[in-house]
Amino acid sequence: MTNKVTLTQFIIEQQRELPGVSGMFTSLLNDIVTACKKISHLVNRGELIGVLGSAGSENIQGEVQKKLDIITHNIMVDALCWTGHLAGMASEEAEDWIKIPEYYPKGKYLALFDPLDGSSNIDINLAVGTIFSILRCREGVDPSLEDFLRKGSEQVCAGFVLYGPSTMMVLTTGHGVNGFTLDQAIGEFILTHPAMRIPPETGEFAINMSNKRFWEPPVQRYIEECLQGEAGPRGKNFNMRWIASMVAEVYRILTRGGVFLYPFDFRDPSRAGRLRIMYEANPMAFIIEQAGGACSTGRERILDIKPHSLHQRVPVILGSKNEVERIISYHKELGDTAVTQKP
Ligand code: AHG
Ligand code: MN
Ligand code: MN
Repeated sequence: MTNKVTLTQFIIEQQRELPGVSGMFTSLLNDIVTACKKISHLVNRGELIGVLGSAGSENIQGEVQKKLDIITHNIMVDALCWTGHLAGMASEEAEDWIKIPEYYPKGKYLALFDPLDGSSNIDINLAVGTIFSILRCREGVDPSLEDFLRKGSEQVCAGFVLYGPSTMMVLTTGHGVNGFTLDQAIGEFILTHPAMRIPPETGEFAINMSNKRFWEPPVQRYIEECLQGEAGPRGKNFNMRWIASMVAEVYRILTRGGVFLYPFDFRDPSRAGRLRIMYEANPMAFIIEQAGGACSTGRERILDIKPHSLHQRVPVILGSKNEVERIISYHKELGDTAVTQKP
């Protein structure tokens, strides 16, 4: 095949269109690509190189860490700390944000990442991924926590890599969404899915049904109406999927539409949701909106939320626009009587 457009070529050409953009962003993206190629290789080798299974430790959020959660975190940090493109970074697997060592130059961007999303799937050989978000840092100052705690609408780039049957990178810089497939033969990501768009209508939903008894009434109502199919108020049959890897769910929605919900639930009142705003909800919301979809907590656009902490969790409802808007309208109908605690 001739005329293959590589990810680097695509980004350089896209950046040329924008005034005042330096090469630093393209170089930063190359750092991330290098890390993700390494992760792809390790995930693919699996038990051959002894990387599967639990690490026997917990992260800051009290979740049991897999060996690969720690290995992938270290790969990302090692690839990004020395190249001079970042002023700091934050990872789902680290309690505090990570400073760039004094002996390396500092750049003007901040990177936030979930090094291995869907890690409960790693030992059963299902799809996992890496999610990342890039913010611009104030120039000439050492960053502080406040520099990271910015609304998702301020992201300059968001993307994820899906380690599935093919390794794919999906990327937005605020000018639509493009998908690239890793050509293992030449070690390059090639543009294979230009201008990805999410159809506004869908007949497919994704939710962890085992949490049903903990959901709020608007979510109960939406799912119940889907389940009633042709005979119910929606007048059509719905299909359901749950992969337990947000990267795989979002990729499916980008290719054939659908709606994904990890809503607020009553299991633990101290947690607003399951997914983390900085490493999961914000980057995915940016991508989904850029592909013509919508992303909300049910009451608020995800990208408009001002985060108060690095590991903050939020309810997430994303995907085909008309369905997300319907779920938001069910929340609105509930009005002031919103139930946010176990009745
Ligand atoms: P992580 O592996 O980074 O902790 O994220 C897993 C997330 C997300 O990818 C997925 O949608 C969800 O957790 C699955 O949660 P359940 O196990 O509750 O279904
Ligand atoms: Mn995750
Ligand atoms: Mn993770």
